[in-house]
Amino acid sequence: MNHLLPEDRIYLGQSDIQISALGVGAWAWGDRMFWGYGKGGFSDADIEAAFKASLDAGVNFVDTAEMYGRGRSEQLIGQMLPRMERPVVVATKFFPWPYRLTRGRLLAALRKSLERLRLQQVDLYQIHWPFPPVPIETWMQALADAVEQGLTRTVGVSNYNLQQTKRAQAALAARGIPLASNQVQYSLLMRKPEREGLLDYCREHRITLIAYSPLGQGVLTGKYSADNPPPGLRGRRYNRSYLERVSPLLELLREIASAHHCTPAQVALNWVICKGAVPIPGAKNERQAIDNAGALGWRLSKEEVQALDRASDRI
Ligand SMILES: NC(=O)c1ccc[n+]([C@@H]2O[C@H](COP(=O)([O-])OP(=O)(O)OC[C@H]3O[C@@H](n4cnc5c(N)ncnc54)[C@H](OP(=O)(O)O)[C@@H]3O)[C@@H](O)[C@H]2O)c1
Repeated sequence: MNHLLPEDRIYLGQSDIQISALGVGAWAWGDRMFWGYGKGGFSDADIEAAFKASLDAGVNFVDTAEMYGRGRSEQLIGQMLPRMERPVVVATKFFPWPYRLTRGRLLAALRKSLERLRLQQVDLYQIHWPFPPVPIETWMQALADAVEQGLTRTVGVSNYNLQQTKRAQAALAARGIPLASNQVQYSLLMRKPEREGLLDYCREHRITLIAYSPLGQGVLTGKYSADNPPPGLRGRRYNRSYLERVSPLLELLREIASAHHCTPAQVALNWVICKGAVPIPGAKNERQAIDNAGALGWRLSKEEVQALDRASDRI
């Protein structure tokens, strides 16, 4: 296990909440359809070992959502938290289903999440997607209500583009509340937040950019290849031709990993950290959690980051 660097602890947005520069994502915890929860080799015991190993390695930030496993992810975290014996910063999310039309629906959903998590308050409450029909401003009013009622310490958004982020930020500012975070897909396989200026905007405005799927749903670990695609639904997106295209990038990840005596997954996560975002890799067991947390405690050189940028540009 690496010793953490001072810069491995950062503030969440403009708040005084300190989070690790890498968190753990809990989508798979309780999700049968996409991640195969409950099938051979992926049990509640694996999840608890993954959670504990993450915290033991210095990770203190977990991201879940009411959607994940239809509440099962939050429920599992609620059961595990008292056994963890360490402070954990908990983030969850509200899903704006089209039948949820009023501010009150968000507060009711948050109360349900708190029940499952067995908490009085979460640290970060996020809107999962900027879906219609309810305007961004209405959900921001609801998030501000949630802060004022003490149900969450900070508020964030997810999957908002630059323009939507600015709207959310302005609506919250009118209530005197800063936008703490925007959670978007960001990895060596998905550079849109960098290209559209979202990453820079968030840095300038002290909005934490939380990077989801930072391992490209397992692809950037190097364990999948054209001859060994990921199982289930993931195999459709990361198919043979895609995996052939990314193989030079995977080769470079292996080369850099070998120079640092680490793994390709750690290099891919460290690249996200070097860009100023907080990766939240999913971990299905203790081994993956330890591997991922090993992205803390060191940094790639500027030249290595640039070489990875170029390899990723060529995909
Ligand atoms: N806001 C949103 O809309 C949104 C969307 C997606 C995700 N998220 C959040 O982001 C988190 C992470 O994203 P993600 O789960 O989509 O993708 P990810 O973190 O890129 O990939 C996670 C998967 O990769 C494999 N893996 C992880 N670490 C590994 C390691 N060290 N060695 C080998 N394999 C490893 C595991 O699956 P296998 O072992 O099965 O390969 C694991 O479930 C989620 O848990 C969730 O909290 C948010």
